[in-house]
Amino acid sequence: MNPARRLLKYLLVYKGRLVFAAVCGLGMTGCTLLMTLFTGWFLAACGDKDVASNWLVKFGVNHGLFAAHDARMALVWIVAGLLILIYLPKGLFSYVNAYLIASVTSRVGTDIRGDMYAHIHSLPMRYFHKSRIGDIMSRMGNDVYLIQSSSLVVTQAIDGPITIVGGLARMFWLSWQLTLLALICVPMMAVSIDRITKKIRPLTTITQESLADVNATIEESITGVRIIKSFGMEEHEVKRFNGVNTRSLMAVLRYWRRNALVLPFIDVMGGVATAFIIAIGGWMVVTNAISFSDLGQFAVLAFVVAGAAKQFGRLSVVYQQTVAAGERVFEVLDTRSDLPEKADGVVLKDVRGLVEFDDVHFEYNPGEAVLDGVSFSIQPGEAVAIVGPSGAGKSTIADLIPRFYDVTGGAILVEGHDIRDIKTASLRDQMAMVPQETILFSGTIAENIAYGRPGASMDEVMNVAQAANAHEFIVQFPNGYDTVLGERGVGLSGGQRQRISIARALLKNPKILILDEATSSLDAASEDVVQEALDRLMKGRSTLIIAHRLSTVKNADRILVMDQGRVLESGAFDELVGSGGMFAQLYRTQFRSQEASDVGAQSS
Ligand SMILES: Nc1ncnc2c1ncn2[C@@H]1O[C@H](COP(=O)(O)OP(=O)(O)OP(=O)(O)O)[C@@H](O)[C@H]1O
Ligand SMILES: [Mg+2]
Repeated sequence: MNPARRLLKYLLVYKGRLVFAAVCGLGMTGCTLLMTLFTGWFLAACGDKDVASNWLVKFGVNHGLFAAHDARMALVWIVAGLLILIYLPKGLFSYVNAYLIASVTSRVGTDIRGDMYAHIHSLPMRYFHKSRIGDIMSRMGNDVYLIQSSSLVVTQAIDGPITIVGGLARMFWLSWQLTLLALICVPMMAVSIDRITKKIRPLTTITQESLADVNATIEESITGVRIIKSFGMEEHEVKRFNGVNTRSLMAVLRYWRRNALVLPFIDVMGGVATAFIIAIGGWMVVTNAISFSDLGQFAVLAFVVAGAAKQFGRLSVVYQQTVAAGERVFEVLDTRSDLPEKADGVVLKDVRGLVEFDDVHFEYNPGEAVLDGVSFSIQPGEAVAIVGPSGAGKSTIADLIPRFYDVTGGAILVEGHDIRDIKTASLRDQMAMVPQETILFSGTIAENIAYGRPGASMDEVMNVAQAANAHEFIVQFPNGYDTVLGERGVGLSGGQRQRISIARALLKNPKILILDEATSSLDAASEDVVQEALDRLMKGRSTLIIAHRLSTVKNADRILVMDQGRVLESGAFDELVGSGGMFAQLYRTQFRSQEASDVGAQSS
């Protein structure tokens, strides 16, 4: 469906309000046309025409309100009074109309943003690797705002045609010859406006894209401010931003060079038409083919109609840019999930915690194998550790279990069901993850811990914080659990954040626990305490532990040694050390030196 029709669907949700706004628009137009009629009377009273035929004058004279010889002055007074009378309802109509239209377009903007937000959260992980956050934000902000600010279009689309038709009808009635003459310019005007505004849509797209670039650059540099500062790259970043900012300005200027053409074009055409009306109309008055007051009224009407036509020209510009913004919005809304969910998917109940990898192959980018035939299982209640060099594919395995991505070969089974057959929400309900990078949200520490279970009581939050060895440092803050964290948890150390993250996972009380370097930011002493908590936590659950530290994997039931997307060895700690394979080698080089330093740290 084309973007204009889809936007219309959003608009039509508010049919009632729109109809009411249209009625008010009609009222405004009626008032305007009446005013032109009164102007005609006024001109007649002042000058050239016998006013005795005017029905108001007849009414006044017949009812003895004024004498026939006072009729002209009486009509002037009447017109002045009527003008005041007519402005009051016109103001009221105008107020209600403007408010209703703004309320509809603002609601439409809010609806679209809401739909986009919900849709983005339904999209798989892969989408977020491909898209820039600043671009998504710009579409939700700037493009939706552009759509929203098109309230002008809606207003004019409703009462513009009414004004034009009504005005023209009256003009025809006054002098059809002059009206036809005035209309000569219309086809030329329509063709040229069409040609000018056709370019508006692509130009708007370019403008919005460059604005998204600006947003994305700001977003990236603020997120990376620590790196920028540490490398002294402020100047470089400012230069980079200026480049993007200037490109955006150029795009906007190109757009405005086109946009600004529209109204002068209409003005010039209108000027030509006015010249015709003056020349021919003047000649008609001189030759008594039309009265002066009729010509005056005709001229006022022509102004009103030309004003409405001018707005129509603006409307075609706004229409084009709204559609351009709509296209960018619908691009997001049309992104399909590549993790299809089965309608009759399995809902997991009474899970014991069996996880199986059956010859799993996986690639992020086609042709680049990251996992190459991985098979293992985690029996209910078992703790399985994965070790291996950086880039081996450990975190990838962790991400595949909650189905952040689909495998490209083989299968992952939970409780014997292929996870592609399980309702994703139900699958993820069974597990908690302590990821390699801790993300905290703006909010209090308590809220952050309760994230996975919003209804949790304060006691429960404190219990898990104690278990995660976080309680001590939390209560040292003046506001304790109510300490507000910044967007990225600024104000907490890496180890403190990790402990909040562990507490969060503990509170969810899952059957399957995934720990990706969960204790990597802790010093040896803190790690021992958290490790104790984790050991307690791991009881009765299936756990996948990814770790570099010996102490973390030593107690695991089984250790898998990975390299380059394959499991090379597996077995218990002592078995692997004794076998003299890759693990034994890793143990000798990495773990032994670590153990020595851990021991050193403890004894010092
Ligand atoms: N989003 C992604 N897009 C493309 N490639 C990726 C993506 N994430 C990871 N990779 C690649 O997949 C491979 C495995 O990455 P993974 O994060 O699983 O390694 P890891 O074993 O957890 O390493 P580390 O110990 O450093 O955390 C790496 O070669 C990495 O470059
Ligand atoms: Mg990793």
